[in-house]
Amino acid sequence: MSEFSQVRMVDTMAEEKTLSEIDLEASSRILGIETSCDETAAAIVEDGRRILSNIVASQSELHSQYGGIFPEVASRKHIEVIHAVVERALYGAHLGIEDLDCIAVTYGPGLVGSLLVGVNVAKGLALGRRKPLIGINHLEGHVYSLWLTKEEAEIEFPVIVLIISGGHTEMYLMEDHLQYRHLGGTLDDAAGEAFDKVGRLLGLPYPGGPPIERAADTGNPSSYRFPRAVMKQGYDFSFSRLKTAVYREVNRYDSGRMPVEDLAASFQEAVVDVLVTKTVDAVEEFGAKAVHLSGGVSANRTLQRAMKRHIEVPVRVPPAELCTDNAAMIAAAAHWHFIGGERDSLELDVNPSLQL
Ligand code: KG4
Ligand code: ZN
Repeated sequence: MSEFSQVRMVDTMAEEKTLSEIDLEASSRILGIETSCDETAAAIVEDGRRILSNIVASQSELHSQYGGIFPEVASRKHIEVIHAVVERALYGAHLGIEDLDCIAVTYGPGLVGSLLVGVNVAKGLALGRRKPLIGINHLEGHVYSLWLTKEEAEIEFPVIVLIISGGHTEMYLMEDHLQYRHLGGTLDDAAGEAFDKVGRLLGLPYPGGPPIERAADTGNPSSYRFPRAVMKQGYDFSFSRLKTAVYREVNRYDSGRMPVEDLAASFQEAVVDVLVTKTVDAVEEFGAKAVHLSGGVSANRTLQRAMKRHIEVPVRVPPAELCTDNAAMIAAAAHWHFIGGERDSLELDVNPSLQL
């Protein structure tokens, strides 16, 4: 079997950079490596803002046959493709390892076997080529994906940051670079996990977010009034009651007769409603100057539209390829640690339950 069987490798750069476009005065040029879940990714970013290359090898087609991620299969696939992914990132940026200032790698949170692959490759490169090493929290990567969007040169703090992915639904108040105050998070299922589980109930492929969004486009969001678990106080979330409510409705139908579009639209509406309500409250309470959405679920256009409609300050979302897992965001986050003089030793270890 070829090393790329069942892995889709995407170079998300629309056009390749020419050598003359690469800023020789850049204060940092960092290789990011990301293997926390089922994407094997490597990217090179300059000054935490400009992407020189961004390679993502996604295993989602491979895992879709299991209806979810199979951790052992994931780590084995990472091992098979990681070197080629790193090489392509260097090639795309016209750089060799010797041109880099630092190697950055996700060390948590995530699947332990998957994280180990990225961390060990990064350590090997750092040791073999005498380059500084910086371990990055995957969630902080999602935060810094917003600094990779072209139009935003200067971002004013404080910012409400909502990370909504398959493993996380977390809200932070960010008062400066690398300063996070955790406002709340999910008490049970993450928003993306709810999309994935409901997708399975509706007979849609994994991961459930994109097919639910597509089905919802032609459904009626008012067909079912699913529960909105809006906690009265604070910024915590809960999506398990909503999932159970969808399950109950689904069981009322023979599978062939299930109104998938209406169920998808009503479920999506309930998730969006909860996320928007809490975010509106947080913007008001903390006088935020902007809202940043990141993580896979923030690619959802109904969510983006609802946020922009209800929130008066700018709502920023990275382009779709930077919402989902990638290594450019890891290199972008590393820039701010790098210019602050932080370095990790070769003792850097994975931390599957790392928090921000
Ligand atoms: O950030 P991400 O790529 O990986 C994690 O760190 O988890 O997020 C993946 C999650 C999956 O649960 C997927 O169903 C969800 O993001 N997702 C979406 C959409 N695209 C991806 N959820 C809702 N609508 C979408 N368009
Ligand atoms: Zn993620």
